[in-house]
Amino acid sequence: MKILEKERIAENLTKFIIDSPLIAQKALPGQFIVLMVRENGERIPLTIVEADKKKKTITIIFQEVGYTTKILGKLAVGESLYSLTGPLGKPTPIKNYGKVIVLGGGVGIAELLPIAKALKQKGNHISTILGVKTKGLLILEQELRAVSDEFYITTDDGSYGKKGFTVDILKDLLTKYEILNTKYELVYCVGPIPMMRAVSELTRPFKIKTIVCLNSIMIDGTGMCGCCRVTVAGAVKFTCVDGPDFDGHLVDFNELTIRQKRFLEHEKESICKLDG
Ligand code: FAD
Ligand code: FES
Ligand code: MG
Repeated sequence: MKILEKERIAENLTKFIIDSPLIAQKALPGQFIVLMVRENGERIPLTIVEADKKKKTITIIFQEVGYTTKILGKLAVGESLYSLTGPLGKPTPIKNYGKVIVLGGGVGIAELLPIAKALKQKGNHISTILGVKTKGLLILEQELRAVSDEFYITTDDGSYGKKGFTVDILKDLLTKYEILNTKYELVYCVGPIPMMRAVSELTRPFKIKTIVCLNSIMIDGTGMCGCCRVTVAGAVKFTCVDGPDFDGHLVDFNELTIRQKRFLEHEKESICKLDG
């Protein structure tokens, strides 16, 4: 659980390489860990961006958005986490689908890397679309370019790549798909809820299998507390054990959006304590 390497990879985004032999041995693409920075702190889920069986390490990349990620970002090389549990969640189904579009938004780009790598290793043709607010927030460009057959970047402010949103590029690709009769077998998307929702709505009429990686609020990460429940195809699912990947065409995004905001007042309060 010791931090072996620490790197600031973009504004507010930090990468840790952590000594974790048991998790590194078992982790598969799409799985995550739940960590505690301190004994009296909360538990937060973060994706395993890389697991190195030989070096016995895992890599996490996190954005400092609130109290726990900010105190996590203050840890230095040589310090240890209080606890680390994983690998958790169902691995992403990786196989040769054929032509695949993968989309990552914001810190979701870190979560996308292991999936894109694994899909490429299985021989898929990968069209990657990344979206960030501004150029300074773009991460892992070279790593994702290396596993992509087609590569697109969008920024909200037009500071890099195409000005606009990932769905604009997706729309272009799907329109081309109709004209050229190119068949995309899978769209995989991880990013903010509005992005995953928009992507799912866009692919629905094309009947393309669309997987979204949900970021529901979690506590234990093992199916015991019910905190991460989501409605998928009208049934209650737990994101931590039934997901985090789900069929985007079946997710109740309205409910997810509301549930994601339910601790907002407490989150504001705790960040004020940190700043004060
Ligand atoms: P807070 O101010 O407490 O919360 C900010 C926002 O983060 C909240 O509004 C809520 O939307 C979300 N959040 C808060 N607490 C939790 C929680 N316990 N579980 C889930 N979401 C929460 N972030 C990354 O930067 N990198 C990753 O690789 C990554 N992978 C994730 C994988 C999964 C399966 C899930 C569910 C989430 C992942 N996240 C990732 C999101 C990360 O867990 C939250 O950003 C973090 O918990 C925020 O905690 P905080 O105390 O710093 O912020
Ligand atoms: Fe407790 Fe999923 S986090 S059931
Ligand atoms: Mg928090």
